Amino acid sequence: MSGLARQVRALEALEARGRLRRLMPRTGADFASNDYLGLAGSDLLRQAASDALARSVAVGAGGSRLLRGNDAEHEALEAEAAAFFGTERALYLGGGFPANLAIFSALPQHGDLVLHDALIHASAHDGMRLGRAEARSFPHNDVTAAEDAIRGWRNEGGTGQVWIAAEAVYSMDGDLAPVADLAAVAERHEAMLIVDEAHATGLFGPEGRGLAHAVAGRENVVSLHTGGKALGVHGGLVTAAAPLVDMLVNKARSFIYATAPSPLNAALLRASLSDLATNPARREAALALRAQAHEAARALCGLHGFESQILPVILGDDRRTMAVAEALQSRGFDVRGIRPPTVPRGTSRLRISITLNTSAEVVTDLFTALAEITEAVPA
Ligand SMILES: Cc1ncc(COP(=O)(O)O)c(C=O)c1O
Repeated sequence: MSGLARQVRALEALEARGRLRRLMPRTGADFASNDYLGLAGSDLLRQAASDALARSVAVGAGGSRLLRGNDAEHEALEAEAAAFFGTERALYLGGGFPANLAIFSALPQHGDLVLHDALIHASAHDGMRLGRAEARSFPHNDVTAAEDAIRGWRNEGGTGQVWIAAEAVYSMDGDLAPVADLAAVAERHEAMLIVDEAHATGLFGPEGRGLAHAVAGRENVVSLHTGGKALGVHGGLVTAAAPLVDMLVNKARSFIYATAPSPLNAALLRASLSDLATNPARREAALALRAQAHEAARALCGLHGFESQILPVILGDDRRTMAVAEALQSRGFDVRGIRPPTVPRGTSRLRISITLNTSAEVVTDLFTALAEITEAVPA
């Protein structure tokens, strides 16, 4: 028997349960990426790359930011991001995932409570696991339950700081956090608020500055803006008050013990942010396409209640979800099925993402095909 028999068995068990993940080539019309503004392959970023290379921006950082890896391009990006997002400071990390590891492991301290929405992203969970604060969840988007949980924890004798954590736009549900209400709870209880803007940056808030932009500059608010979604590049920007950013620089292992992100990437993100600030057309086109997708989903498939560019179509059963996704793929629509553990058991779904890599006509074709396929693939 091979020395890898346990791993092979584990994979076979996943396959038997319809849960095996596989890498797939990128084909078909894009209904799966997070490149909401179509920037990833754009002439704008191609030109920005060529300009950056022409002014000798380095491709590799060569080391950790705290050693030789700190580049002028990182610092320029951070200054511009802080100004754009309306915060005192910003810190650029290699991705949203390591940024959430940094936030959740290094900011809440022993004796604190992290109170997070039940649907928060895997990277926040992993950060909490690395951190020393207690973690509790509240039911999705239930502000009253969150406030009750703070009171309950205080009544049990909790004396540390409370950190409320939510996603501005939920990555698999596409619904919006009640950020103003959560910020009010944070104010009432002298709590901190962490807002993961990964799927909101570029689309929500004035000029795409984030759903929580109105409160982002407060001392008790920490935000994450990812560079790999609407901004079309890669990386994670944490925006917060200076002492919190300095804590990350001093304590966050995913920042300290990692090679700094490519300075070229930083230059590209500067171009994306500058485009957001100065060119409303791209964002307006994305918002118009999103509205058209909501209408097509309603008119052609009877699907309602979408709040963002992420349209979850919950089918429930894992295998049926994958069968419907495959049928759409075979007709040229790159729609992916999402199964547990990424989403709760019994809620497997198609995650339809609306980006500027497609068009109004293709969106209509997709929902026409979806109506036919869901009828044909048995429940
Ligand atoms: C809500 C949320 N936060 C953080 C991340 C991680 O960001 P990145 O892809 O930049 O590592 C993701 C990525 O899927 C996400 O959806």
